[in-house]
Order: sequence, then structure tokens, then C-alpha cells
Amino acid sequence: MKNFLARTFGKKTPMTNITIIGNGNMARGIATRALAAGRTVEILGQDAAKAQALAGELGTGVASGTTAAAPQGDIVVLAVPFEAAKSVVTGYGDALAGKTLVDITNPVNFETFDSLVVGPDTSAAEDIARLAPAGANVVKAFNTTFAGTLVAGESGGQPLDVFIAGDDANANTVVSSFVSDAGLRPLVVGPLKRARELEGFQFVLMTLQANPEFADFNWNTGLKVTN
Ligand SMILES: NC(=O)c1ccc[n+]([C@@H]2O[C@H](COP(=O)([O-])OP(=O)(O)OC[C@H]3O[C@@H](n4cnc5c(N)ncnc54)[C@H](OP(=O)(O)O)[C@@H]3O)[C@@H](O)[C@H]2O)c1
Repeated sequence: MKNFLARTFGKKTPMTNITIIGNGNMARGIATRALAAGRTVEILGQDAAKAQALAGELGTGVASGTTAAAPQGDIVVLAVPFEAAKSVVTGYGDALAGKTLVDITNPVNFETFDSLVVGPDTSAAEDIARLAPAGANVVKAFNTTFAGTLVAGESGGQPLDVFIAGDDANANTVVSSFVSDAGLRPLVVGPLKRARELEGFQFVLMTLQANPEFADFNWNTGLKVTN
């Protein structure tokens, strides 16, 4: 608790609802939506200065610190690359028990940009869940929402769909509530193994952003179900 107080810049300590691990593009996007949802936010990075810089950019009352500290949020978002997400979860161990762990990673092979680094019988989310402590619930979410669209809260003038997959109904509800409070539409698509399809499809969407035939996509598209 003492460390947490120190991380809040001496202001009255807010209850942290959401801890975001990482201080990159997705950390900025998800933190922006979390603040819009009225949640309190803590940014934990591997570099205290970078985490503090993002927290300061997001506004007053956003706490920051390093991943040397245990996350305070009930929801912990792993806004880091897949390999780093595995190390973070392993490193925290039992400090994650009881948390809802949100895996947003896309395990793309960036050397070839032609496949995922996980096989067809698993997913990044399931690999991460195998490393999580008992009592932590891993939920796949936000892997199909590009960072810039999260900052904007929309794509093409429409609210983003956030596809959610997880094995624990309560954890899925916790993430769905966050998503709808953030002005986005939650779509719970099934158990955690549906992350295989979400990760595969997002890989396809990423190849389209990188395709010169679709130059106007520019990482600002949204994957949406219409009716
Ligand atoms: N960008 C998108 O539109 C998008 C969309 C959906 C999903 N995703 C997924 O979201 C994740 C983050 O992507 P991003 O675009 O935000 O990447 P990014 O801008 O490169 O940020 C990555 C962040 O991870 C941090 N990091 C790396 N290793 C770490 C470790 N061991 N411990 C703590 N922090 C660590 C980096 O810290 P430093 O700054 O100190 O290096 C950086 O803050 C990835 O898994 C990606 O697949 C991205």
C-alpha cells in the first residue's frame, strides 16, 4: 500500500480499477477509454519515466509506477507484446490471483508477417492462461481494436465492437461492463479458445492495413458486426 500511495503523486488515493501493463500505443488507447468509462487507472511500465509520462499525458489522477510493484487494479490489461505478456504473468505469479487478466496480444510472426507464432491448437490467450496463477481469469479482448480507434472511441463514425472470449462468465461480464461503460459494444463470443479465431482474424485485418492496395485503411479500420 505504501508503494501505491507513492505512485499516486501525493494526491488523494483513488481506488484503482484498472491496471495497464505497458505504456505504448494500446496502453494509451485503453487508458483513454477507461477514463471515459469513469474508471481509475494505473499505468505500470518497465521504465518509470515512460509510465509517468503517459500517465501525465492522460490527465490528473492517473497513477504510474513500474512492474516491480504489484498491480492494484481488479482488471489487469496486458498491453505489451505476446512474449513480454508471458514474462509479466510469470513474474507476477500469485500477485495476479483473483484478478481479471485481459490479454490483448496479437501473436503475429513479425519476421515473416505471414503467420502467427502460436500453433492452430492454441492461442496467445490460452498460453497466457496456462501461466496465470489459480484464481486469475484470462479474458481475450481488444485484440481487434486498433490503438488509434480506441483513442478516438470510434471508427468510421461508429462505436467499436470489442470481441470478448473467456472461460469465466463473471470475468467476461466484468470486461463487458468496462467496454460498454467506455462507449463501445461488447460482444462475448465464447470460451477462451475462441481467441484462436480472434487472433487469426486480426492477423488478416493487419495484413490489409499493410497492403498498399488499401492505403486509406491506415490502421484506423474497425472490425464490426452489423445488422
Ligand atoms: N497497436 C495496435 O493497434 C494493437 C491493436 C490490438 C492489439 N495490439 C497488441 O497490443 C500489445 C501492445 O501493442 P502496442 O501497439 O501498444 O505496442 P507498443 O506501442 O510497442 O508498446 C509496447 C509496450 O510494451 C512494453 N513492454 C515491452 N516489454 C515489457 C515488459 N517485459 N514489461 C513491461 N512492459 C513491457 C513497452 O515498454 P517500453 O516502452 O519500455 O519499451 C511498451 O510500453 C501487443 O501485444 C499488440 O499485439 C496492438
